[in-house]
Amino acid sequence: MDLRKIPVWAWPLAAGAATLLAALALMILLEPGRGAEPPRAGQVQVSGRADIGGPFELVRHDGVTVTEADFRGRPMLIYFGFTHCPDICPMSLVIMGDALARLAPAARARIQPVLITLDPERDTPEQMALYVASPAFPEGLVGLTGTEEQVAAAARAWRVYFSRAGEGDDYLVDHTSIIYLMDSDGELASVFTHGTTPEALAEALQRFLEEERV
Ligand code: NI
Repeated sequence: MDLRKIPVWAWPLAAGAATLLAALALMILLEPGRGAEPPRAGQVQVSGRADIGGPFELVRHDGVTVTEADFRGRPMLIYFGFTHCPDICPMSLVIMGDALARLAPAARARIQPVLITLDPERDTPEQMALYVASPAFPEGLVGLTGTEEQVAAAARAWRVYFSRAGEGDDYLVDHTSIIYLMDSDGELASVFTHGTTPEALAEALQRFLEEERV
């Protein structure tokens, strides 16, 4: 989001509208849940195989190249953004961190939080390492970057829209703001808008973990 073009009072409206559009697009893309309970605010229920996510090759914040296979066996909570984002990205990561902190330690340890950058030019592995270490963000947050091509391929796989906005070194990146919950097999389980509260996200994660265990 480039919120600099928008008056301060309208930020929540602008962010809300962009995310609502993204969520609606996803709801159209995804198979409707069969026999699922009605979706709660900020959460889109998913059932069956959704064509979101897939194989990727990216560079972890410690400089090691990783693929989806390195994360198999653990549910992932994925957010696409960029470390120079002034507002929506940090807010979403704080919500993720707050939600995960509400889970019991054993439950929290099962979920791998991940930030995939949409700005590989500035978000080097070193920059990602500094950023993901913020105590406000989820404990154990993994930052993934890569070449322009690797990042674009991952964004395509998750149907994430992004576009550079502005000139010079302090450009912004307009982008979809969605939190994706992938199950242990790498299949999409749920998506959450950044309007999700930490309480609602924690509750959904808890429910998901209980169901996934059986
Ligand atoms: Ni952002």
